[in-house]
Amino acid sequence: MRRAAITAVGHFLPEDRVTNAEMEKWVETNDEWIRTRTGIAERRMLRDPGKATAHMATEAARTLLRKRGIGADDIDAIIVATVTPDMMFPSTAALVQANLGASKAWGFDLSAACSGFLFALSTGASLVESGRHEKVLVIGADKMSSIIDYTDRTTCVLFGDGAGAVLVEPTEEDCGIIDSIERVDGSNWSILCMTGGGSLHPSTHESVDRRLHFLHQDGRHVFRYAVQAMADVSAEIMERNGLTGDDVRFLVPHQANLRIIDATARRMGIGMDKVMLNIERYGNTTAGTIPLCLADFESQLRKGDNLVLAAFGGGFTWGSTYLKWAYDGKPGA
Ligand code: UT7
Repeated sequence: MRRAAITAVGHFLPEDRVTNAEMEKWVETNDEWIRTRTGIAERRMLRDPGKATAHMATEAARTLLRKRGIGADDIDAIIVATVTPDMMFPSTAALVQANLGASKAWGFDLSAACSGFLFALSTGASLVESGRHEKVLVIGADKMSSIIDYTDRTTCVLFGDGAGAVLVEPTEEDCGIIDSIERVDGSNWSILCMTGGGSLHPSTHESVDRRLHFLHQDGRHVFRYAVQAMADVSAEIMERNGLTGDDVRFLVPHQANLRIIDATARRMGIGMDKVMLNIERYGNTTAGTIPLCLADFESQLRKGDNLVLAAFGGGFTWGSTYLKWAYDGKPGA
């Protein structure tokens, strides 16, 4: 049976760190509130005005190609999950293709907010499982600082910039992506959104005055849904694959809030020592969080390790993926 497996990971983080202490100078907030309510201590920010999501996605992909020892010409398709594309069109994937010089690839962007990476991974895996492609680049990248209102304390402390990339290739071995669940429910779209700049509210002086080009979130409302949905979907994927907490090597959760992650881990019956966490250092990088976790924990992973990936985000979108890791440790480390 031909399965799709993650065979390499790469990542990119801007060097500039914004600590909670720095945030205290921008809005009425404090380190203690941010840490206890979210688990975040600092986040990264891409300050260079000439660089955006495609730059971070390209750098993540370059690291991955180097680690895997292949060239850009070997790539068949590029899928970029993002809600902060460099521009409305062309796609960020097109810019990444050009930056890399991936001469044989096609590609597109996928918009599913914080679940974007998981949805892109499912899509990329399907292209490989079907036999259509051998090497698909799946990237989660967001320059959240480009759509954050740094006068709104309820959102600005939460988000950061970053990108992670994985390579998806076929395998005949007992590893790779085994199962996934994806969900979307648009009835709550207005609780987490950015309405300006699209075809409904094109950019105008009025749209700028009404602050429509910034992310808007009713955090408390999103929190209630996220806790339930992420835990439900993770429990469901475990149940239908006959997994118990003991079988899972790592939960790889979207990093929006430590309390949401904690609730999901409890429901799955796994301790926090088996949860990939980097929210403290990077905040919520939207489509970047899960591949950034994989990059951070890569050296601890062994072939055959059971991982459950889970995410919840704007749309609402949510999902979970069960995979068996396909290689040992960190190549070149
Ligand atoms: O990744 C996409 C999905 N997004 C999420 O999963 C985010 C889900 N939501 C959350 O993570 C949490 O709801 C937040 C972290 C956004 C907020 O935490 P909370 O415990 O739900 O706080 P809250 O919104 O209920 O606000 C509690 C209080 C409010 O004050 P009052 O109304 O009780 O006087 C807020 O105004 O905390 C206040 N507050 C702040 N105080 C200091 C809100 N933001 C801040 C802040 N610093 N940055």
